[in-house]
Amino acid sequence: MAAADSFYITTPIFYVNDVPHIGHAYTEVAADVLARWHRQRGDDTWLLTGTDEHGQKILRTAVANDTTPQAWADRLVESAWLPLLETIDIRNDDFIRTTEPRHETAVATFLQKLYDDGHIYSGEYEGYYCVGCEEYKQLDDLLETEDGDYAGQLVCKIHGRPVELLKEKNYFFRMSAFEQKLLDLYENTPGFVQPASVRNEIIQFVKQGLADLSISRSSFDWGIKVPWDDSHVVYVWFDALLNYITAIGYGVGASDKPDEQFQRRWPAVHIVGKDIARFHAVIWPAMLMAAGLEVPKAVFGHGWLLVGGEKMSKSKLTGIAPSQITDTFGSDAFRYYFLSAIAFGQDGSFSWEDLSARYQAELANGFGNLASRVVAMVTRYFDGAVPSVDIDPKIATLEKRVTDEANTAIGSFAINEALAVIWQLVDALNLYITENEPWALAKDPAAKARLEHVLASAVHGLGTLAVLLSPVLPKAAARLWEALGGQGELDAQPIDRAWAWTGAGQVTPLETSLFPRIEQDVTV
Ligand code: MSP
Repeated sequence: MAAADSFYITTPIFYVNDVPHIGHAYTEVAADVLARWHRQRGDDTWLLTGTDEHGQKILRTAVANDTTPQAWADRLVESAWLPLLETIDIRNDDFIRTTEPRHETAVATFLQKLYDDGHIYSGEYEGYYCVGCEEYKQLDDLLETEDGDYAGQLVCKIHGRPVELLKEKNYFFRMSAFEQKLLDLYENTPGFVQPASVRNEIIQFVKQGLADLSISRSSFDWGIKVPWDDSHVVYVWFDALLNYITAIGYGVGASDKPDEQFQRRWPAVHIVGKDIARFHAVIWPAMLMAAGLEVPKAVFGHGWLLVGGEKMSKSKLTGIAPSQITDTFGSDAFRYYFLSAIAFGQDGSFSWEDLSARYQAELANGFGNLASRVVAMVTRYFDGAVPSVDIDPKIATLEKRVTDEANTAIGSFAINEALAVIWQLVDALNLYITENEPWALAKDPAAKARLEHVLASAVHGLGTLAVLLSPVLPKAAARLWEALGGQGELDAQPIDRAWAWTGAGQVTPLETSLFPRIEQDVTV
């Protein structure tokens, strides 16, 4: 059992057959925002991400590109997956690759333990396999196409590509033995699978009856060898799911005595796309139960980014590279847009028009302009010295309410709701400035006290915004914090007391807007 203040959060580990698109980046950003928020709340936070490098999909891609799977994976990790983290400003604490020895050794330890304890047996399997999903499929997961390239063949509903009929001698994990325990878990811990739509789907799936799971393959060798039979490699999902514990040191010591990092951090919160919620909410807890380990704290299955009503994907050629957006709008805008425009847990459609419009209205005009104006007025009217007077009680009350509500929303993964609530403060401050017209007060010497009160209140509200927005807009919030003369590092400001921030009492003008106007037509 981890310490009470542990917040260990993970993203899925990504297949390295191709480069990332904005769907992958969306998952990364959501997990990063939650991690930054918890870090700023003082929790013992750890964000893990990484890459999934074994299996047939990677092997085939490498062969098609005339190289080895290891060389292919190395190339993609270096040239695409690690740079992605920079592009969208992810502050991860670790990055695991499933080809690292720390992972491979611990997977073998885990598997051997399950084998020794009687959870694994050998058998024969015949079924349809989708290499895109790296999964055996049931008939209702497939479609028979009548026309097009694959006419007359069975294709996977997710990938739209033909499945392959496989017949192999495999090792099986007795997953069926955990059916009731899983149902009890969903019943007794309602927050285990979220949101409710994904939870219901998982419960329905398990209620239909759980089969045992084939966990090895013998027709190719790109994988971790089964420790007691080196003619088999471990099934790629069984291997991949274990990254969440191997990365924090499971299997480093004796198998029954996981190491200190593991004790400190496990169990985790898993952020995944809803497409892979089943692996995380059914197979994964069953594996952990078999090994006598704690199940995850929660599995959150977020929605898909859609293009033309379909899941954005490279295999369907609808993928957009994250840098296409960040090159023009910057990483902060990328992070803000996807987390505010899409309800976390639901699908959402991306469009350049919507991105541009929200950038302009919410970031440039709403927040950025507010910051520039207030700082400029304090500079002009008070030589940069923030008047040391009481702030407007209405603003102070709003700062407290917004802080509390945003914290509550984040606690239940409602990132878009947290942002909506924070934007109430942005809007209220804009209205406050419009209504009080400090530029008019500045012309009237008799209104000096009023001007001091209004600008001190606006500065205070802005400081609270910097603290609250730091997880989502780390770059812009840091610039604002500096301009306001905020005391201490911004990301060390307790976010659950955002309104209690203090400043040095002196502002420095922002040389350029936090969110400059984008002149070019981004839709072409
Ligand atoms: N390697 C497995 C995961 C193993 S985790 C133990 C895998 N990789 S993946 O690269 O195909 O995709 C991983 C994740 O990327 C998805 O679960 C989802 O979080 C994200 N997305 C991929 N396409 C997406 C969209 N179009 N929209 C939103 N998220 C998307 O599955």
